[in-house]
Amino acid sequence: MSVDGELLTDHLAKWMLTEHSRFHRIKRIPADQKNAIISRAKEIVDTGIRKKTLRVFVRSGVPLAIVNLAPSRNPRVAKQQSIFFIYAPHARQKAKRWLRQNLSELAKKSPRYTQIGMSQNDDKFLKDCLEQNGFNTRYEILMGETKVALANLKRKKSPPRDLSHLGLELRSIESPSQIRDAMVLQKKISLKSKRHGYFSHTPSQLKKDREEYNSIMRGKMDGRILGVYRGKKILGLMVTGVHAEASASEKNGGFSFFLDPSIQGKGITKTGYLLLLEYLLHKKIQKFYGGTSQPSIQSLGKIMKRQVQHVIYVKMGT
Ligand SMILES: CC(C)(COP(=O)(O)OP(=O)(O)OC[C@H]1O[C@@H](n2cnc3c(N)ncnc32)[C@H](O)[C@@H]1OP(=O)(O)O)[C@@H](O)C(=O)NCCC(=O)NCCS
Repeated sequence: MSVDGELLTDHLAKWMLTEHSRFHRIKRIPADQKNAIISRAKEIVDTGIRKKTLRVFVRSGVPLAIVNLAPSRNPRVAKQQSIFFIYAPHARQKAKRWLRQNLSELAKKSPRYTQIGMSQNDDKFLKDCLEQNGFNTRYEILMGETKVALANLKRKKSPPRDLSHLGLELRSIESPSQIRDAMVLQKKISLKSKRHGYFSHTPSQLKKDREEYNSIMRGKMDGRILGVYRGKKILGLMVTGVHAEASASEKNGGFSFFLDPSIQGKGITKTGYLLLLEYLLHKKIQKFYGGTSQPSIQSLGKIMKRQVQHVIYVKMGT
């Protein structure tokens, strides 16, 4: 690599700040966030140079793009790797060709479950080279505006408010034993749907979710958990939990759905969205987020005018 580490850190930090503004749709980044991004840029450059994993594209002494394969900072499964790339907003064809070539090489040699995140624009020009190298699951991180989503859902889908037409009942989950049953169900469904939720069945994720559901149940955290019941048997779980937004003091809702295969494909999810969005509206939560590779959730997302904010590919293997 023929570029000075400090110079590279400066450029990388600038590109990352631009990307952060785009991702969060904000013009001014708060100082603490800004400092965290600058430290992150330094860490990427320092460790990338030390471990010789960083690839850099330079023209006339100016860095224009970087690619790095390193352990994931937020591993969903053990030893998960992550491919990080970013380029100057003004980078042209040559830098982009270099990027594609290097990403293809890293994608090919990277282990199972490696993930790579990007904007929707980058998805368009990188999709084929990633898919050709085993990155066969594509998640969309969707952002929705509560009011807009609810209005469109009601207008275009008229979801029923209950599920009695299917012999099912929606109940709020309010006791520890209901949470225990819900966790058993979540694990069972996730194991059957590994392609779409490859980490939802892992002990660490189940622990994290159980803690969140318990906090909601005890009123320590805002949120709502609905169980879908046939008689005494729980067959589905629909959850929204209210989280602090990364970029500001703003809060947003996160959603999870787990339906037993016997009740999938019956249009139940739209009733869940109706009730959970009404809850968020009542709590004055303006935005909600969720990552999904499920075509049905993406399709409902379009109806609710949710926007694709980020795309993540995972090398799931066959
Ligand atoms: C993903 C999941 C929650 C979807 O729930 P569901 O109620 O079975 O969803 P449906 O199949 O009824 O589809 C919802 C809507 O999307 C539409 N849809 C379904 N598949 C579609 C597709 N491939 N393309 C476009 N639209 C599609 C349906 O027509 C339906 O609309 P409707 O309600 O007007 O009939 C459920 O399948 C599930 O729990 N899967 C396993 C766990 C999981 O992956 N959870 C993570 C979700 S992010």
